[in-house]
Amino acid sequence: MLRNTSRVAPIIIVLLTLTTTNVTCGQNPAPQLGKNSVKEVVAAMTLEEKVKLLVGMGFNLDIPGLPPIEEEDRRTPERVVGAAGRTHAIPRLNIPSLTLSDGPAGVRIDPTRNGDNSKTYYATGFPIATLLASSWDTETAQRVGAAMGSEVRDYGIDILLAPALNIHRNPLGGRNFEYYSEDPLVAGKMTAAFVRGIQSNGVGTSIKHFAVNNQEFNRMQSNSVIGERALREIYLKGFEIAVKESQPWTVMSSYNLINGTYASQAGELLTTLLRSEWGFKGFVMSDWFGGNDAVAQIRAGNDMLMPGFVAQSQAIIKAISDGTLSTKQLDTSVERVLNIVLQSPTFKHFNYSNAPDLTSNARVVRETAAEGMVLLKNDGNALPIAPTKVSLFGNTSYELIAGGTGSGDVNKKYVVSLDQGLLAAGFTIDESLRQTYKEFIADQKARRPKGRPFMPLPPISEMSIAGDRLEQLATDSNIAVLTLGRSSGEFEDRQVENDFTLTTIERDLIDNISNAFHAKGKKIVVVLNVAGPIEIASWRTKVDAILLAWQPGQEGGYSITDVLSGKVNPSGKLATTFPVSYDDVPSAKTFPGKELVGVKPYIDNPFAGKPAEAVYDEGIYVGYRYYDTFGVKPAYEFGYGLSYTTFTFGDLKLNKGNFDGPVTVTVTVKNTGKVPGKEVAQLYISAPDQKLKKPKNELKAFAKTRLLKPGESQTISFELTSKDLASFDPASSSWVAEAGTYSLNIASSSANIKASRNVELAKDVVVEKSQKLLSPPPGLKEIEPPR
Ligand code: BGC
Repeated sequence: MLRNTSRVAPIIIVLLTLTTTNVTCGQNPAPQLGKNSVKEVVAAMTLEEKVKLLVGMGFNLDIPGLPPIEEEDRRTPERVVGAAGRTHAIPRLNIPSLTLSDGPAGVRIDPTRNGDNSKTYYATGFPIATLLASSWDTETAQRVGAAMGSEVRDYGIDILLAPALNIHRNPLGGRNFEYYSEDPLVAGKMTAAFVRGIQSNGVGTSIKHFAVNNQEFNRMQSNSVIGERALREIYLKGFEIAVKESQPWTVMSSYNLINGTYASQAGELLTTLLRSEWGFKGFVMSDWFGGNDAVAQIRAGNDMLMPGFVAQSQAIIKAISDGTLSTKQLDTSVERVLNIVLQSPTFKHFNYSNAPDLTSNARVVRETAAEGMVLLKNDGNALPIAPTKVSLFGNTSYELIAGGTGSGDVNKKYVVSLDQGLLAAGFTIDESLRQTYKEFIADQKARRPKGRPFMPLPPISEMSIAGDRLEQLATDSNIAVLTLGRSSGEFEDRQVENDFTLTTIERDLIDNISNAFHAKGKKIVVVLNVAGPIEIASWRTKVDAILLAWQPGQEGGYSITDVLSGKVNPSGKLATTFPVSYDDVPSAKTFPGKELVGVKPYIDNPFAGKPAEAVYDEGIYVGYRYYDTFGVKPAYEFGYGLSYTTFTFGDLKLNKGNFDGPVTVTVTVKNTGKVPGKEVAQLYISAPDQKLKKPKNELKAFAKTRLLKPGESQTISFELTSKDLASFDPASSSWVAEAGTYSLNIASSSANIKASRNVELAKDVVVEKSQKLLSPPPGLKEIEPPR
């Protein structure tokens, strides 16, 4: 890569001057981080050292077109090969280099190392975040976090670049698999639990991508145009919960602009809101190559620039020398980074093993994956099934998709497929069909074009099976299981045709298998190995049962079998709505945005896409908030999920009928069926429509029961405060709970309310006063609910 030496020369002179000054005035030994205070260490740092600390180092990328990095960085060997980033060491001051690694589904590092044949460095592939959210169980998220964090620690990594919690604004979002939910409460609570789990290992997290980063289209130059109420209530709320309830070590700012300002350059977001209002104590890092003005980033409170390149260091040094950036601002960022360095395992000389307990973590994967699977349909108790002879259809039955692609992928040692899972549990699989699939997949893979770096490969399309072959299979086996799979990942959004919708071959397969097996009085079960919604409404009547297995991680074949066989009773609930058709999605027309014609690129690099704009005109009406309020019936609603047993909800009890202080809501859930199971109690509020229009229902609390035996009950309590009633009023920049009658609804899904009670709020309460935040352009029009 070419370097611009003419721009480097004056900078070197400035640096030399500053370094010399420091040496002459500093005859005493340099302060040492850990022995001296952070302030003393910062005071002893040269400008060059400060900038070195704030401008990071990436993995050894050598991709033409990306901005040049320091030659020295290129030569510095990686301690953890394949980790996404590092910080610079400053040995003179006892500041070590930290290692940062992706990502949400497990530690993403290279599994082998050059010149080291004695060992491998595989990490566990955990279930995707969408599955974890569908468990509606924060203990599950915390357990996965704790297991993943143990691998972070054991591989000598300091900070995991996870969890990610952007909102599922639209089912086509390419990275939705890394994210939890369409609802900020679920996203925030899951994130907080996951962070607590990871950080319990003495390592850090980076919650990302802060904020309003909901599509991959032109992701580094896309401006999210959004009203302040939606920004606060939907897109920032989860981050607020996570910061307040778990204090992540770091936050990663997002690639996009928000109402015209890069998120990584927005002081209102990174300083006023994140630090002053929410009390965040760690440091903020940019997403990789994000933003277009290093000085504006530091000024805004984006303390670390990742993965760092020469021009950024030059710009910061210049800004300090010409006074456009103050030393105080720079020092603040340096201090924040050093405070985290002090906590890091590397600083503490933690003697990591490079031998995480992959066996015990595999068990965590198997169990937690089953917790988040959602039974969508189960006519005539088609499931569970005892071991029997199965005709197993669908490519992904044999090549399970364990997770998504891009930085959220993991180099795992193996993936357990569904055929392996069923065989291990004593099922018999039609062997000729199995062989046909294995040969077909091998053949298709061999013909597949080579993938582009980082990009997902196109899926192998299904093969058609019909006629006599199918008749024979229906005669020989007792049930058909068909898996439909979808892959997605970073850099690319999903498509409507043949991705959200089924391909023609998939439709034909369902028709043919359904006819052949039903004609013989046998059932067909569909397993969905997907990361987000697909179209189901048009074909669901043709099948007996549908299990949404998501992308369940490396033990997936076992976990799916555990649910199909009834070893585990499914208790997952949708944390994201499955609409009937893509056109029903409130952002269908505005997603993923459009390119801006005639606008000069904000970032000059071939990976940055083009300037674009996504207008969030659905406002707060995202997911069920839209479907419920606008009367659009989804295929499967938010919060929905069946069980092999049945539950009742007793009366909803309140400790009082007025909101003159916290209100305690109590309900008893009883297992009235024949097998043990878990149920989720979901508490929604219907608020009075006053000045601020309200969604019909909003989730305010949730809890999952323990495993209840038949006949057993559990009482669950929730506490609500006036903050839970409040909406954000942009006119007064405050969270306001408006006076009136609130209905508190206990439900087993957003559409299935089991018990309700009213509570009165006598007068308006301003719960929190805030400040203006990233104002939208004048004239932004948002949709209005029908009245
Ligand atoms: C992704 C981040 C990731 C980073 C480092 C970026 O492309 O957006 O989520 O942490 O790369 O790999």
